[in-house]
Amino acid sequence: MENIVIPKHIAIIMDGNGRWAKEKGKIRLEGHRAGANALENILECCGKIGVKYLTVYAFSTENWKRPKMEVEGLMNLFSRYLDNKKKELKKQGVKLLVTGAKENISEKLLKKIEETENYLSDCENIVFNIAFNYGGRREIVDAVNKVLEKKFLEQNQVAENGGFVEEKAENFKITEEEFSKYMYRPEIPDPELVIRTSGEFRISNFLLWEIAYSEFYITDTYWPDFDEKELEKAILSFNKRDRRYGGLNAK
Ligand code: FPP
Repeated sequence: MENIVIPKHIAIIMDGNGRWAKEKGKIRLEGHRAGANALENILECCGKIGVKYLTVYAFSTENWKRPKMEVEGLMNLFSRYLDNKKKELKKQGVKLLVTGAKENISEKLLKKIEETENYLSDCENIVFNIAFNYGGRREIVDAVNKVLEKKFLEQNQVAENGGFVEEKAENFKITEEEFSKYMYRPEIPDPELVIRTSGEFRISNFLLWEIAYSEFYITDTYWPDFDEKELEKAILSFNKRDRRYGGLNAK
């Protein structure tokens, strides 16, 4: 792919595992297993071509509504993935981050996530950010709460020191840039390209804040069938986009 701009950060909504399985007469979990294999392949490709951040939507805050068996299956799949792949990830220089809420996830899995993140923390080829128990609105609300807590503590500190406590609303305003620092992963740049498989035109509560100026690529291909050829098509399409960020000239 000569003369092609490789996006620094690609984010993917890996959709269509269930339909892939159904069309093959398999159970839904087989679709998720095939999806995990596709993910392994795409992560390796991204690492090789110079993508620096890959974010994938593996489990949303709304996915708890699925049947218990499917939810447990997805938890187990993720847990086994961490056990079985961590050495290979290290070899590929993959730094792992798991991003999302902690509640409802078992202590055992939380511990495994933390251990695997630590084990891979010095890897530098690509950052692999797995959005797990993630919701975009939840991320924004968590950020607002962090801001409020910080402001509240600052005011308390001032009061404790016998100082004058500000009550004017304008003293509590923050900028977009400051607010970004309260999101889950402020160290990761916004994705330039968001890919969604299986032909659905919706964002499903994924990275609501970060995708303000992302380019979208939607393909009918189900996630388990998304391979390096499909990735190449998405990147070529991205290269044809005229990115103006609200202005008149491409940047
Ligand atoms: C959406 O397809 C997919 C998910 C909710 C799960 C994505 C999970 C994986 C690809 C497993 C791999 C993850 C890791 C980190 C090992 P769907 O089930 O909604 O598909 P459908 O719309 O066709 O039913």
